[in-house]
Amino acid sequence: MRTVYVNGSYLPETEATVSIFDRGFLMSDGVYEVTSVLDGKLIDFDGHAVRLQRSLDELQMKHPSSKDDLLEVHRELIRRNEITDGMIYLQVTRGNPGDRDFAFPPEETAPTVVLFTQSKPGMADSPMAQTGMKIISIEDQRWGRRDIKTVQLLYPSMGKMMAKAAGADDAWMVEDGHVTEGTSNNAYIVKGNTIVTRHLGHEILHGITRAAVLRFAREAQMKVEERSFTIAEAQEADEAFITSASTFVMPVVEIDGEAVGEGTPGPVAKRLREIYIDESRKAAV
Ligand code: PDD
Repeated sequence: MRTVYVNGSYLPETEATVSIFDRGFLMSDGVYEVTSVLDGKLIDFDGHAVRLQRSLDELQMKHPSSKDDLLEVHRELIRRNEITDGMIYLQVTRGNPGDRDFAFPPEETAPTVVLFTQSKPGMADSPMAQTGMKIISIEDQRWGRRDIKTVQLLYPSMGKMMAKAAGADDAWMVEDGHVTEGTSNNAYIVKGNTIVTRHLGHEILHGITRAAVLRFAREAQMKVEERSFTIAEAQEADEAFITSASTFVMPVVEIDGEAVGEGTPGPVAKRLREIYIDESRKAAV
């Protein structure tokens, strides 16, 4: 049985509990991070810790503990659950005020902190990296602060189900005619030697994998354009792909029933995936 972490204690998953009055449960008043693990080590822990701090600050939530303490909890869960490859999920909510109220609870209310592991042996060798993903486009109906990594995931969850119902693997969301991002990943197209991905702002999550992949792309002399693009432009691109902590770099081969490029994973996505996984393994903590 998994050992999970809740508010300072390591417990069997069946014994870990959170109050029914928790703001995360009643109001989606919480933020989260997903950090991947390869060979028992954390990928880009610093990036995730910095983004967690930013999400908490933007919502005026207290930071539960120092970065070093959080790192130690991550490592302890990897040890206790003998994780080789997989993910660590971390969630911080505004805690349990003891009742339901729209107003934020008093300052002294302790945040709720939960972490658990997800084991995914062989995560870096996902078969989907060979076949590529099919995606559909859907309207982006989320709120206006998608740069804050909140646990309000109902619409992305519905988006995944819409994709599933259409026989696809995921959905890209579109606002004012332009792609924002995938349901749980950032979206890219490739034209020649140029990689295009939406610019940062309140409209998308500032992906930690995105930052690393764009850095590696520039180091490999590829051109990067941070601007929005349409579904039509994506369908006419040479390649498309997504990035996230859980998928690394994953090729997209079909958008709304139209093949992208040759309809098979392209060389740029393949190369960036290799570089990302190699470099991340080297820098893992
Ligand atoms: N999702 N955009 C959205 C909406 C996301 O939910 C995510 C991550 C990303 C990619 O961010 P990063 O590279 O930092 O993982 C972009 C995580 C993996 C999840 O919800 O499981």
